Amino acid sequence: MATDKIRVLIVDDIAETRENVRKLLQFETDVDVAGTARSGKEGIQLSQELDPDVVLMDINMPDIDGISATEIIRQKSPHIQVVILSVQGDPNYMRRAMLAGARDFLTKPPMGDELISAIRRAGEMAHAERAKGMQQRLGPSIPGGVPMSLGNSAAVSKGKIITVYSPKGGTGCTTIAVNLAIALNNDDTRTVLVDANLQFGDVAVFVNEQGKNTILDLTPRVDELEVELVEEILIKHEASGIHILAAPQRPEMAEKVGAEQFGKVLQFLQRMYSYVVVDTSPILTDVILSTFDISDVVVLVTTQEIPAIKNSRLFLDLLQTMGINKNRVVFTMNRFDKRISITPERVGENLKHEISAAIPLDEKIVITAVNRGVPFMIDNKAQPVGKGILSLAGAVRARLTLLEESEAEAPIKR
Ligand SMILES: Nc1ncnc2c1ncn2[C@@H]1O[C@H](COP(=O)(O)OP(=O)(O)O)[C@@H](O)[C@H]1O
Ligand SMILES: [Mg+2]
Repeated sequence: MATDKIRVLIVDDIAETRENVRKLLQFETDVDVAGTARSGKEGIQLSQELDPDVVLMDINMPDIDGISATEIIRQKSPHIQVVILSVQGDPNYMRRAMLAGARDFLTKPPMGDELISAIRRAGEMAHAERAKGMQQRLGPSIPGGVPMSLGNSAAVSKGKIITVYSPKGGTGCTTIAVNLAIALNNDDTRTVLVDANLQFGDVAVFVNEQGKNTILDLTPRVDELEVELVEEILIKHEASGIHILAAPQRPEMAEKVGAEQFGKVLQFLQRMYSYVVVDTSPILTDVILSTFDISDVVVLVTTQEIPAIKNSRLFLDLLQTMGINKNRVVFTMNRFDKRISITPERVGENLKHEISAAIPLDEKIVITAVNRGVPFMIDNKAQPVGKGILSLAGAVRARLTLLEESEAEAPIKR
């Protein structure tokens, strides 16, 4: 599949633009311009006839505009990926384009590199979608997906690594990681919370336990880890019962922790705890990227804001490029406000990934909790925010069970 050329259809009412784009693409050996169309209507028709992988779509056109055409093409052929080219980077257009199912949005005239990498990303998606469609038609005998866990299936009841990630700062990644860890922790399923935001980690502050041991006390000894040593270093949070591995005290110390060392610590913790919940930063450091590789589940956090949704889309694409099965992503909406029309259902539909839990906006409870250093799952779990976290914990547990069942059927392969 990877050697297949990406077949592109150019839709624009201006001849000069069509020609310019064609010229930009002519030297790319992996891209093939399958055809050009002069209007939205013709674009829809040629999409049916030529079945391209990617459609480059203008917005303002005489008969059917590019956004409506995108919607129609995506309805008829969901594997075709549309990249919108528009004169202005108007956020309102961007939002409408996204809701219509466009994969990417570029401003005109596009830069060569930018255009080509957008086409490659979209082309990869289209090939994957086609393959999936084929697999579904061939039936379940062909094992689907590529689970990402490195783990060997022989290991006995290893704990699960649950990584909480948001590609946009301030969406509530840390709030969710801390409260989710508390929700998952009980006598049968002991839970440790690890801060992988090594520069500006604030997990310890969220539970008012700053200034104690950190991961720097473990990293020099990663090759000789012992339960007693690890227990000594972890912070024991009395009020909730969870254990915590804090980030370094100062940002300049972050670089002392390598990805390999960090991975070894996580894998050791997996032997001691049922759940290892990892908080992250939006910046994809080596430490965080390799944590995804060994995670059982990634809790992806978005809000109802377009930039957060857009970044979630990019992140889902990235996981796919990394070979990480999307079944492992538990998509979550935080700061959910039902007065805003971008509902979890719409975002889920648009990104083709259902939102499993919505945690409501509640500034009073959440901000007070952070400032007091007392997570709301300790004293406010009956409130709507607390119920949101409980439903997320339920979704995570259910997903882990499903993944275990499917791995028992089709053993892990990379
Ligand atoms: N559901 C929510 N309702 C209201 N405020 C929230 C909610 N979740 C998080 N916040 C607030 O948003 C801010 C950012 O949260 P934080 O967890 O630090 O985000 P991140 O780790 O993604 O940067 C904090 O002030 C936090 O109190
Ligand atoms: Mg954070």
